[in-house]
Amino acid sequence: MASIEECQRRAVVKHNSICSMLKILLLVVSTNLLTVLLFSCTSLDSRWSSCGLRVHSWDSAALFRELNATRRDLSDSRTQSAELQRRLAMTSSLLQTLLAEVGRAREDMATAADGVGGSRDEIPEELKLAMGPHKMPLGFTSNLGTDELYPALGSACFNFQKELVEYMSYEVGKECPVDDVFAQRLMLKGCEPLPRRRCHPKSPKGYVEPVPFPASLWTIPPDTSITWDAYTCKNYTCLVNRRKEKTSYDCKDCFDLKGREKVRWLHDDGGLAYGIDAVLGTKPPGTIRIGLDIGGGTGTFAARMRERNVTIVTSSMNFDGPFNSFIASRGLVPMHVSVAHRLPFFDGTLDIVHSMHVLSNWIPDAVLEFALFDIYRVLRPGGLFWLDHFFCAGTQLNSTYVPMLRRVGFNKLRWTAGRKLDRGMDKDEWYLSALLEKPMT
Ligand SMILES: *[C@@H]1O[C@H](CO)[C@@H](O)[C@H](O)[C@H]1NC(C)=O
Ligand SMILES: *[C@@H]1O[C@H](CO)[C@@H](O)[C@H](O)[C@H]1NC(C)=O
Ligand SMILES: *[C@@H]1O[C@H](CO)[C@@H](O)[C@H](O)[C@H]1NC(C)=O
Ligand SMILES: *[C@@H]1O[C@H](CO)[C@@H](O)[C@H](O)[C@H]1NC(C)=O
Repeated sequence: MASIEECQRRAVVKHNSICSMLKILLLVVSTNLLTVLLFSCTSLDSRWSSCGLRVHSWDSAALFRELNATRRDLSDSRTQSAELQRRLAMTSSLLQTLLAEVGRAREDMATAADGVGGSRDEIPEELKLAMGPHKMPLGFTSNLGTDELYPALGSACFNFQKELVEYMSYEVGKECPVDDVFAQRLMLKGCEPLPRRRCHPKSPKGYVEPVPFPASLWTIPPDTSITWDAYTCKNYTCLVNRRKEKTSYDCKDCFDLKGREKVRWLHDDGGLAYGIDAVLGTKPPGTIRIGLDIGGGTGTFAARMRERNVTIVTSSMNFDGPFNSFIASRGLVPMHVSVAHRLPFFDGTLDIVHSMHVLSNWIPDAVLEFALFDIYRVLRPGGLFWLDHFFCAGTQLNSTYVPMLRRVGFNKLRWTAGRKLDRGMDKDEWYLSALLEKPMT
């Protein structure tokens, strides 16, 4: 088993080095093309200008000058052509190395998939199929730059081969194992995205059509809308009542749509709690149209924005509660990705990104900084990042997070730091709320 993992890991590393080599290769090829172009341009130019000279002047001095100029040109050309040959030689040696590496990586993949030193059955056929690679039909390679398709799979999946085998053990076309918790744990360990499967998730008994919009925004769905196997609670009444428990469930009062959820973001207290209308008011009416709420609980932020004609996608994990299903039942768009996942949006596309509580000091600094740069990436110029109640120790605020946010490069529209009062004044616990803007240029 260990050797298989080793092989796969090596294959991944190789794949990475191939990628960087490919980049270098492209660079070399393109600079060469440029040289060829420049070369042909200058020689063309000088030929034209020397032609002009020949026609108009017959004195010997001019002829000498011309001769000398031609000689210089010739010597320049020789230097250029030597340089060109040198680069071509480099390119072809790079190409050879690259091809050799690709060949070796393929072999490694194949041996890993066949199960080195163990039985061939150790990696199930279904997992091999799900992981690929898969050869594509002729003529479908141009857009992809490859003739083999590798299904997307989190790199850390290779560290959890046993779990992956278990995840992929099911009967094709039949019901999937009830393994939501197991699967989500695998995602949180970095095996994200998980491989696709060819089985049906267990469907709920007695499903009824959803409540029509807009009433759905503030309605708790019937218990029969989902399956409850994965959760401690077995109905929505239980989830709503969780708010009374002393336990520290994630977002434990947020299934109660008649409680605190009902007033969130409606009022701006001039302090840490910004109001949605105040935030939207910082931009021309109607220009904040689409966005993302990172770790948005049961989707109330998206619901309030929906009422203002702003479409918000809510990312959420199902931490002992059907958060994704609940958001969907409200008629809002849930997205099951962790905070470590690269945001699945293209650069410069979103008008607003919001996050309350989730981005905080529990996230390792490096991961957080990458996440902040990723938020910056997906925002359009002038787009808003509303960092809502970011939690940290007072000493971390100025030493770590203020410099980090400065490095990312947002403009500050609003900035409020305040003591976290809900657990007493004795601890040096702080909140930061900020309305940040991606610069226009
Ligand atoms: C051409 O170059 C030679 C030396 O290479 C020099 O002596 C001569 O003066 C030059 N002639 C002209 C017209 O520039
Ligand atoms: C809801 O589930 C809890 C256990 O999770 C159970 O004790 C309770 O009776 C259920 N309530 C209803 C209305 O089904
Ligand atoms: C949302 O859009 C609808 C339809 O265009 C419009 O009637 C309504 O006034 C808008 N609501 C807000 C709060 O802008
Ligand atoms: C951070 O620095 C600012 C400006 O230097 C200062 O006013 C503030 O009190 C500091 N905050 C904390 C939590 O130490």
